[in-house]
Amino acid sequence: MPEGLVIQRMFAEVADGYDRANRVLSLGIDVLWRRRAAKVAEVRAGERVLDVCSGTGDLALHLARMGAKVVGADFCAPMLRHAERKAEGRDIRPRFVCSDAQQLPFQDGSFDLATVAFGIRNVESPVAALREMARVVRKGGRIVVLEFCKPSLPMFGAAYLFYFRRVLPRLGKWVSGASNDAYQYLPDSVMKFPERGAFTNLMAQAGLASPRHVVLSGGIAAVYRGEVQH
Ligand SMILES: C[S@@+](CC[C@H](N)C(=O)[O-])C[C@H]1O[C@@H](n2cnc3c(N)ncnc32)[C@H](O)[C@@H]1O
Repeated sequence: MPEGLVIQRMFAEVADGYDRANRVLSLGIDVLWRRRAAKVAEVRAGERVLDVCSGTGDLALHLARMGAKVVGADFCAPMLRHAERKAEGRDIRPRFVCSDAQQLPFQDGSFDLATVAFGIRNVESPVAALREMARVVRKGGRIVVLEFCKPSLPMFGAAYLFYFRRVLPRLGKWVSGASNDAYQYLPDSVMKFPERGAFTNLMAQAGLASPRHVVLSGGIAAVYRGEVQH
């Protein structure tokens, strides 16, 4: 089965318990990380923002609350259904579209900013997704990525990695009610994904200018930013 389809099905199965598991597994810190990503993005009211791998829409909804005109894109319809439900009744609400991050249904330069939170690691070709995000952002616009990282402080790192690799897969499965190994896939995929300088190299490979990053919460997560320079 193609890798993308496996990922799509995995998220479809965990969609109902996804938000609950996020809050429990991160003790609510994931909410603060998305806010930090929005800050790094320097989003302004009225800007056109695309949030790819938008999932249940938490970052898209936050950016819309800041006054941006947001489109959330994800290839997993059951995740987007939760996003739609959360957006109901809001004055400024994102529009959600079902789409693969590597083939976006938007014209060149249609957005001022593109974001992706905890999604780029899941995409078959992260560089292809970054290139596609850059294509749909105007010259001088920004690409902002929020992703997990591995802490570098020895004591804290060891304790965190014990939690992340040994406790989280079982706790996540239980809290989310997942019948698959999505919460084993989470640490497995983070452990092998390029981070910090290695990820900014991928951003440069995708043609982004001035790629840089800030680490969050002792290195558990990082926000990356690059500028579009067609
Ligand atoms: C860990 S969730 C993150 C969701 C959300 N951004 C958040 O912050 O909670 C990853 C999301 O990426 C989506 N995804 C993975 N690969 C994708 C791809 N190639 N194209 C579009 N969406 C993808 C999945 O369907 C899933 O909803």
